[in-house]
Amino acid sequence: MSEHGGNILGVAEQYGLPANTLIDFSANINPQGAPERVKALIKNSLADIEKYPDVEYRHLHQAIAKAHQCDYAAVMAGNGATELIYAVTRYLHPKRALLLTPGFAEYRRALQQIGTEIIDYPLTEETGFQPDLRLLDTLSTIQPDCVFIATPNNPTGLMPDSQFMQSLVEYCEKQRIWLIVDESFIDFLPDNRGLIPQVAITKHLYILRSMTKFFAIPGLRLGYLVSGNTMGIAEMKNRREPWSINAFAARVGEILFDEHDYIAATHQWLKSQQHYLWTQLSAFTELTVWRPSANFLFFRCNKLNVDLWHSLLKHQLLIRHCKNYAGLDERYYRVAVCNEWENQRLIAAMQQVFAHG
Ligand SMILES: Cc1ncc(COP(=O)(O)O)c(C=O)c1O
Repeated sequence: MSEHGGNILGVAEQYGLPANTLIDFSANINPQGAPERVKALIKNSLADIEKYPDVEYRHLHQAIAKAHQCDYAAVMAGNGATELIYAVTRYLHPKRALLLTPGFAEYRRALQQIGTEIIDYPLTEETGFQPDLRLLDTLSTIQPDCVFIATPNNPTGLMPDSQFMQSLVEYCEKQRIWLIVDESFIDFLPDNRGLIPQVAITKHLYILRSMTKFFAIPGLRLGYLVSGNTMGIAEMKNRREPWSINAFAARVGEILFDEHDYIAATHQWLKSQQHYLWTQLSAFTELTVWRPSANFLFFRCNKLNVDLWHSLLKHQLLIRHCKNYAGLDERYYRVAVCNEWENQRLIAAMQQVFAHG
């Protein structure tokens, strides 16, 4: 099992702490909680547990296609984006894949399970942890069948330049390289529509989306995949285990796109609290912080002998250490943007940690 954020129970057990006293900065979930309509819908749909969900998830797929104004046949919903990372990997079955590091762990895990040769493409501090056109040169040298890229990236929270992304899409289409763009956090960027509009004119582009972070439903699980390769989407639907999305998640997915007030409130919260954490964290001379685009911040602790993860755990704050990400080490951390008082507690605790060594 890869190590992820949000492992409150595991950490509480390991350190003998009551799990309900920990504040979780390690998973990047919208602190507004799930929309009220979602909770009401689930309560009112309890009878659904007595029936199988539609094995083709027709209404859910229609809702996703309508929201993105794309072809119904271009869409496949899944039990979180995670199910679809595995589905698309198994379907494409690449011989050789390029992974940008640091990046989300499940791409590697999915590729390893089918024996793909994995070539790492390190994003380094010198290039601001951002990919640029040099990636295309590497693609032409290495000639992989497939590339994964997350926009914005996890754990860095950085959004690649849109012109660069356009060049990457065009290059991969021309060279017949499967490009899997993980837009799991893109809903947090109010002005960014991502690359779904491009699937109508491409065959090698696969877009992953997650609904678990923005709509705070990681326990319910819901994500989707969109691609112009509609034969491929049909094949993946055909091969998948039936009923992998539970009835509640399927029903909820039909209404989430209409949650305009919730979406606007989330953008408003993020604007102020992302700014708060960015300015407060940047003010610590002990830290180097990268400017966030989404609902989490990535930073390096430059003070030797300070183990921020353990120090903050003593304050009941769980942050994400990044030492298990390829290309990073124990100096790097990630924190989610939480609600105002939680963010203030984080900053106050960090002031104490740095004041006392
Ligand atoms: C970049 C990225 N993609 C996908 C996922 C998985 O999302 P889901 O909860 O929809 O399976 C995560 C979860 O942290 C993630 O960080």
